[in-house]
This record gives sequence, C-alpha cells and structure tokens, in this order.
Amino acid sequence: MESGEKFMRWALDLARYGRGTASPNPMVGAVVVSDGEIVGEGYHRVPGRPHAEAAALRDAGELASGADLYVNLEPCCHHGRTPPCTEEIIESGVVRVFAAMVDPNPRVAGRGLSRLREAGVQVETGLLEDEAQRLNEAYTKYIGSGMPFVTLKMAMTLDGKIATRTGDSRWISGDEARKWVHRQRAASDAVLVGIGTARSDDPRLTCRLPECPESAQPLRVIADSLARLPAGARLLWEAPERPVLVACTGDAPQGRLEKLRYAGAQVETFQSRPDGDGLDLKSLLHGLAAREITSVLCEGGGELAHGLVFSGLVDSIVIFLAGKLIGGRDAPTPLQGAGVDSMDEVLELCDMEIDRVGEDLRITARIPPMEGES
Ligand SMILES: NC(=O)c1ccc[n+]([C@@H]2O[C@H](COP(=O)([O-])OP(=O)(O)OC[C@H]3O[C@@H](n4cnc5c(N)ncnc54)[C@H](OP(=O)(O)O)[C@@H]3O)[C@@H](O)[C@H]2O)c1
Repeated sequence: MESGEKFMRWALDLARYGRGTASPNPMVGAVVVSDGEIVGEGYHRVPGRPHAEAAALRDAGELASGADLYVNLEPCCHHGRTPPCTEEIIESGVVRVFAAMVDPNPRVAGRGLSRLREAGVQVETGLLEDEAQRLNEAYTKYIGSGMPFVTLKMAMTLDGKIATRTGDSRWISGDEARKWVHRQRAASDAVLVGIGTARSDDPRLTCRLPECPESAQPLRVIADSLARLPAGARLLWEAPERPVLVACTGDAPQGRLEKLRYAGAQVETFQSRPDGDGLDLKSLLHGLAAREITSVLCEGGGELAHGLVFSGLVDSIVIFLAGKLIGGRDAPTPLQGAGVDSMDEVLELCDMEIDRVGEDLRITARIPPMEGES
C-alpha cells in the first residue's frame, strides 16, 4: 500500500470514532505526518468540539511545522461553532494537505482548499475519495437535499416473510445480525417504525450494546397518524430519558395526544397523504431534517416500508435473510401495500452486495433516485 493511502486510511478510521455523535456534522479524522511518521492525530467527536484537523495539529504541537496533513474532508474556512481549520493549518506551518473529498457544504465547497493554496500550502484531493464519500453519504445527502439519508432494514425468512400470520417475528435473524442492528441504531440519528410494529412488537428501539455512549442513542420515531401508541408502550417507560417522537396528522384525537405527552412522548403533527391514508412521509422526513436528523434507520414494518420505498424516500436497503421458512399466504412480506401492477414498473436496485453475518445472509442494495429527484 502506498504510504499516502496508509495515512488517509488511518484518517478514515479515526473519523469513524465520530459515528453517531458527530452528526449533524460530518465524520472527520486527520493525521499529521512528519518524516513518514504519524506525529499527531485527531477526530471530530461532537458538534462544538474541535474539528479533526485542529485536534491533530494540537496533538502534533511544534512537529506540525513542515509536516503533511491527511484528512478525509476538505478543511472548513468559515466561522461555525469553532474557528476555521484553514487558519489553524496555515499557522501551524503544515506544507502539504491531502483531502480525500471536497466538502459539499455550500459554505465550504472548494473555498477551504483555495484558501490553503493562496497561503502557499500544497493541496491534493481525491486520495481514497470513494471510501470518504461512502463514509459521509448521509451528511452529503442532508446538506445537498435537506432530507435525511434513509436506510430500510428488514429481517426475512427464505420464503420472503417478515412475521408469522399472527404477527410473531421474534426472532427471524440471529444474534450477530441483531448486534449489527444495535450498532446501526447508534450510528443513526433516528430510528423509525410504523404504529403496526410499535403495537405488535412493543420494541424499545434503543442501542443496548454496553459500549454505546448515551449521546449516540437515536431519536425514536413512530409513524402513527391517529396517535394510537399505547401510553404504556415500553418505548416510553423503559428509557424515559431518551426521546420518542410520535408523528401524527391533524386527525389524531386531542385526548390521545395529551395522554402521550403526559407519558413523556414528543408529539408533532405532519401533513396527511393526499388520499388521507396515513402520514405524508416526505413531510415527516423534512420535519426530521429540520431537527438536524441526517440519517434514519427504518425498521419496518411492511406497510411503512412500502410507503417509504414507493415514495422514493429510501436510499439504501439491508435485508437479513434467515435460513427459516414461515409459510402461509397471510404472513406479511417486507413491502406490504399495493405494490406495482406490471414488471415494467418494478423498482430496479443497484450496487447489490451479499455477505454473511453470523447464521444469516445480509443483502444490501441501493435504490437509485426516482425520476425528477436528484
Ligand atoms: N422482520 C422484520 O424485519 C420486521 C420488522 C418490523 C415489523 N415486523 C412485523 O411486521 C408486522 C407489523 O407490520 P405492519 O405492516 O402491520 O405495520 P407498520 O408498517 O409498522 O405500520 C403500519 C402503520 O403505519 C402507519 N402509517 C402512517 N403513515 C403511513 C404511510 N404513509 N405509509 C404506511 N403506513 C403509515 C399506518 O397506521 P396509521 O394510519 O394508524 O398511522 C399503518 O397502518 C408485525 O407483525 C411485526 O412483527 C417485522
């Protein structure tokens, strides 16, 4: 491996320490390299705390003078919650900056690199760019479209069922897959389920891995037009300090809203779908973005998943396929709803990948943006 690539990979690994806590900021890691040795490193942990470059420069101290800096995102050049990184880099005496990708934030968007060049710092971009883009895809989508990046995750048997005909789905996937889900909850700003799942499974939707910091716990969101979530739901009483948002429409009875608020839920009203059948999911996701939610993990069930997918709101799908059979025409499938009428109308997925997680197969795929969307 080229040494430059090695240092950028190190920066990307550092950046991952900010997963679940750096949001709505991007995950960024940086290393300062002098005479082929790493002399300083840092990452961005939480908004308002030092950026990765500043942390790495402080770690390097005087050794930064004459050194190279590797960072997975273009350094910022504006005053936000912290001072601009470009100025700290220039003052430190760093001579070369390798940035894996340009910052899509319109307040930066190449200006950070220009500022460094103006000050005589050599700048190169593009080293491990694909990896860097992938790491911060939620940030890039959020910044560019004002919508969160949505991942739909479902566990399914080999005969395509997500629960038995009586609604029992515990457990379809194995321990390792469920651990992955917990890590993914911590990595996401919000976890979303429909009221069908909230009522039938009574889930907690928290990350219960011992290493998960409290600040990485997601906002738990229930798509619940008529505020039917029982006030005794485990979501509300088992982790009362962690927020739950009940997303309903103007049709929800006042009395139920009050009961849920009293039980500790945040209740917010969103638009209804034009046919009046449930929430307008785009308005819900817009509302979440307004709360600086950049990534959403949707954990089902089939009705909500169908609504999200066929509204063009899902970016990535993760299906855990278990070597089990449920059978029965009334047992639900990952996408309930009406579906399409003909094969001309099917949604074609791309970037399909398969790997094994414990006893299950994990299939991931992307949904390309629908026509008219970017
Ligand atoms: N294996 C798995 O991965 C997995 C994951 C999750 C769930 N499950 C299973 O799936 C079953 C529950 O699934 P489900 O399909 O009945 O429930 P669901 O998808 O969790 O919830 C559906 C409800 O969400 C509400 N909703 C609000 N806006 C919506 C919209 N725009 N589009 C669609 N729904 C909207 C609707 O109720 P209102 O109109 O009242 O708002 C709708 O009835 C359970 O048996 C559960 O165990 C399995």
